[in-house]
Amino acid sequence: MATVEIMSRPIQRIALSTGGGDAPGLNAVIRAATLAAINRGWDVVGIRDGFNGLFLPGQYPDGNGLVTLTREDVRGIVHLGGTILGTTNRGNPIAYPVLQPDGSWAEVDRTPELLALFEQHRIDALITIGGDGSLTIGNHLHQAGLRVIGVPKTIDNDLMRTEATFGFDTAVGFASECIDRLFSTATSHGRVIVVEVMGRYAGWIALNAGVACGAHAILIPEIPFELAPVADTIREREQRGSKFSIVVVAEGAMPVGGTVSVVAKAVGQAERLGGIGEKVAAELESLTGKEARTVVLGHLLRGGSPTSFDRLLGLRFGAAAVRALDEGQDGIMVALNATTVDYVPLAEATQRQKTVPLDCDTMLTARDMGISFGDGLSA
Ligand code: F6P
Repeated sequence: MATVEIMSRPIQRIALSTGGGDAPGLNAVIRAATLAAINRGWDVVGIRDGFNGLFLPGQYPDGNGLVTLTREDVRGIVHLGGTILGTTNRGNPIAYPVLQPDGSWAEVDRTPELLALFEQHRIDALITIGGDGSLTIGNHLHQAGLRVIGVPKTIDNDLMRTEATFGFDTAVGFASECIDRLFSTATSHGRVIVVEVMGRYAGWIALNAGVACGAHAILIPEIPFELAPVADTIREREQRGSKFSIVVVAEGAMPVGGTVSVVAKAVGQAERLGGIGEKVAAELESLTGKEARTVVLGHLLRGGSPTSFDRLLGLRFGAAAVRALDEGQDGIMVALNATTVDYVPLAEATQRQKTVPLDCDTMLTARDMGISFGDGLSA
């Protein structure tokens, strides 16, 4: 069977795919994975727009949905937002939207066709860079016989088994900058400003940006809310002389006994959330009698240049994905294992200076990418 052959032959050519919503740091992954692979003598191709480059090559001007990635192609891209490969959230091969003769859309499983395309293009392994949707697809393809490594991407930070996904730090940083700015105008006018942030069904962006900026209320999907206590907080602040309040609302937040606020749901796509900010502002206005405004940060959180944290995490993940393939790993996701805030004895903390462990993965990443440390060693 074709799939068994893909699994068993040595790696000569790998493919990178970016799927789902974009996130700052994608290009860093692409650069590190490409260099790490080329430095091992492997060829690298990027699949355009998720898997659409394989399914629909005819839609590209050159008729080629695969891009050969060279050192030159990945030069100077680490600081760029978005993905040089393009992405889509309408290309799930397991539930691919296909137009029916009657004009309606149906979700069709195109897995066998996709596996055949990998075989036809002699692709020995796939590095799939995505959120839970893309990684679920990756796992499905792995189970169908393809050699797959996943790289966790999403501004939402809602993936299990990794302390962080790249993109999240940039999103929180930008949300924080916006909320800081809203403080001054809210203060000037003595208003309530409700800031709606993305995050799907997880409250990470709202929580982290809200706490970092000193928001007065934060509504997250994990805690169904009532607005009476929020109105109490606003009134108490007013009595203390603070006439303004900042409320950060995650797009997936919902009232007690209510449902999540959905904008739309199309075939082959996840439901689009949004609108909760307006509802919260309207109700707070009527509960407190104060003027309220809503700001929806939306896709602004996904754009722009990645923070240095996200660049580095993306590079580390990209190089680690190639190392994982080189080590014979399959069906895994590279993950960050940071620690929580802990207590350590002062005597231990001051025993010696902490220097760079030469086997830490940032060092391995640098060597995988061909960076010299002047010691004559390489990957
Ligand atoms: O998963 C990332 C994300 O930005 C979510 O926070 C948001 O709900 C969704 O994608 C929006 O997706 P779209 O690009 O389809 O608007």
